[in-house]
Order: sequence, then C-alpha cells, then structure tokens
Amino acid sequence: MSVITTVEDLKRIYKRRVPQMFYDYCESGSWTEQTFRENETDFAKIRFRQRVAVDMSNRTTATQMIGQDVAMPVALAPVGLTGMQSADGEIKAARAAEAFGVPFTLSTMSICSIEDVAAATTQPFWFQLYTMVDEDYTDRLIGRAKDAGCSALVITLDLQLLGQRHKDLKNGLSAPPKLTPKTIANLATKWSWGLEMLQTKRRSFGNIVGHIDGVTDNSSLSSWTAEQFDLTLDWKKTEKLMKKWDGKVIIKGILDVEDAKRCVELGADAIVVSNHGGRQLDGALSSIRLLPAIVDAVGDQIEVWMDGGIRSGQDVLKAKALGAKGVMIGRAFVYGLGAMGQKGVTTALEVMHTELDKTMALCGRRDINTVDRDILLVPDDFEGRWKGN
Ligand code: GLV
Repeated sequence: MSVITTVEDLKRIYKRRVPQMFYDYCESGSWTEQTFRENETDFAKIRFRQRVAVDMSNRTTATQMIGQDVAMPVALAPVGLTGMQSADGEIKAARAAEAFGVPFTLSTMSICSIEDVAAATTQPFWFQLYTMVDEDYTDRLIGRAKDAGCSALVITLDLQLLGQRHKDLKNGLSAPPKLTPKTIANLATKWSWGLEMLQTKRRSFGNIVGHIDGVTDNSSLSSWTAEQFDLTLDWKKTEKLMKKWDGKVIIKGILDVEDAKRCVELGADAIVVSNHGGRQLDGALSSIRLLPAIVDAVGDQIEVWMDGGIRSGQDVLKAKALGAKGVMIGRAFVYGLGAMGQKGVTTALEVMHTELDKTMALCGRRDINTVDRDILLVPDDFEGRWKGN
C-alpha cells in the first residue's frame, strides 16, 4: 500500500472497499449538489499570507471547545450510518477520537447505540439529537444520553425533512442493505467489508430498533425520516429540549444571522454554521462563505463553529482564521474509517493535524489561539453578504 499523506488518499481506498450504496450516501449532496461542491471549492478561494523570520519552535494546536480541552479545534461530526462504513464504525471512530484528544459526536441515526459507544469508551462523548413525532421516544433518547454520561447535546435544526438525494433514492439506501441483484453484484466485490460485517450484530439503527414501536431492522433512511421526524420542530420546542437536557448545548445547522441570534437568546453554548454537508438545502451558500457574517454578528456572545468542505488541516486553519472557534469534520473521518477502520480515523486526524500545524507555522504563528484573519488573503467578493442578507 502506498504511503498515506492526505485525506484524499484515504478516500481512494474507501471507495474501493465499501459498498457503492454507502459510499454514495457519504459522497453526495442533495438535488444538483451545488452546495455540496461549493463547500469544498470555496475553501480553495481563500489564500494564506506567508510570513518569514518568525520563531517557529514550541508550537501548539491545543485549545478548547465549549470549555473542553481539545488537541486541535476539530470535533467528529455526527454522521448517520457510520457503522455501515465499517463494522461497529461508531465505536472505532469514538475510540480514535478519544485517543487523539478530540470530541466524538454520536448521531441519532447511528448503527451502534448510545449504550454501545459508552461501554466501549472511557471519555464522555456528545450526542446529536433528531426530534421525533413520538415525544416520549425523544425524551427517552435524551435520558439515555444523560445516563451514558454524554457531555453535550447537539441539536440539529436543519433536518426535519430530508433534502432529496438522488443517489440514495436510486440506490434504495437502507441499513442493512436490501439484497437486490444490483446490491448483491456490488457486495460480491467488497468481501473484506462483508466479512467484517458478518462478525458484528450491529447492522441497523441501534438507537431506534427495539426502542420505538413498528420499526423493523430493515428501515430505509428516507421512509424512516419521512414517518418519524418531527416536522413541527420550532424555537419553542428547541427551548424545551434544551431545558430537558439541562447541560451544554450545541445547535447545528445555522446559516443565517437572524437564526444565530435566536440561538444566543436561547442560551446555547455553541452554534455550528452548517448546510449539513450540502445534503439539505441545495443552492444555499457554502458554510465558509457565511461564517464571517455570523461571527461578526454573534461571535462575542457564543462559540461559532462551522462544518462543510473541510478536507485538510489547511481548511481547519482557514475556518479558524475566519473566526470559527472550532470545526466539525464528517466525510474526512468517514473516508479514513471506511478505508482502514479505527486506524484510518486516526490517520485522518494525524494527517490533518500535521497540515494544520505546519501551515500555521508558515503563516508565522505558533499558537492556534493567536490565529486571526490577518493570516489570510480573502477575495473582496468572497463573503456571503448577498442581497437579501
Ligand atoms: C443525516 O443526518 C443525513 O444527512 O443523512
């Protein structure tokens, strides 16, 4: 195997190893995928200022996110079906994050359950909540996350209904995969993935199956969300959820200054500027474009983070310089997980850390906490201050 030096290297191995249905689930956006693409390509429009003759010894990328020490300002984002990318994937990713010193977030739509991940780790992780029509079930989820010692609740506000993802619909995405001639033909070429999967019993939605009536272990993501997700979720309900949780809250899916201000009013600890990796409202601007305006509006009152399009430590540095206190990575760690399991997630984190550290030094900074906009060159027309904003 050739030497892995980038997240892209991991993606190439991931693509070969994991069934098409799950690769497509990860590597797609909604509708035309414009927002999905621009999340990445907009990062490339931002450039660094090289500074020289600066002492580059004793560097550090260590900082804090919601008061928690982190080895670099990166948390693993909640990603649905992670345990389909690699057997027991959420456990592997959580262990890699824990060893590296960055937070792990478990999705409501995970394969391993809250209890599975808690039993396999020693540090508290974060739990991401989708609210369901069945309010008792949502309450029970919150209770289970508390009992498992989760140290923050990530409330996702941008997915009451699912953006239309053509690839998933065409593939009939489900967990476990339904056996059709097309999936069987593809699975036959993914034997190492399949052998691993046969050795775990966790092959469906672990937080859901057995915890809610009428959900069998063959539920498809699109039908499940259409039937169960709470379309009426609003600010009032969000406030109620926060009260029930009564701990640190991160609100994810904010793209608008007015919505960011509501999160401040509600007393959230952090917001994640996010378009859900381009998987929800296609045609929205990229997260990195919208970040500066949101930081300007509320950055002194709440921690502003972002996700979407981060594939390297250089991207992390750009987001940090534009005012993000931290970032979340989704696809970047999934590539590693699908390629090489826990070791692959560790590799993704190591690669990104090295890129972050060296780029920071070449910009003339030794401490991530001193990084500001001054290290960047940003085109005049970059920011998302479009008409109507
Ligand atoms: C779920 O969060 C998804 O984006 O599929």
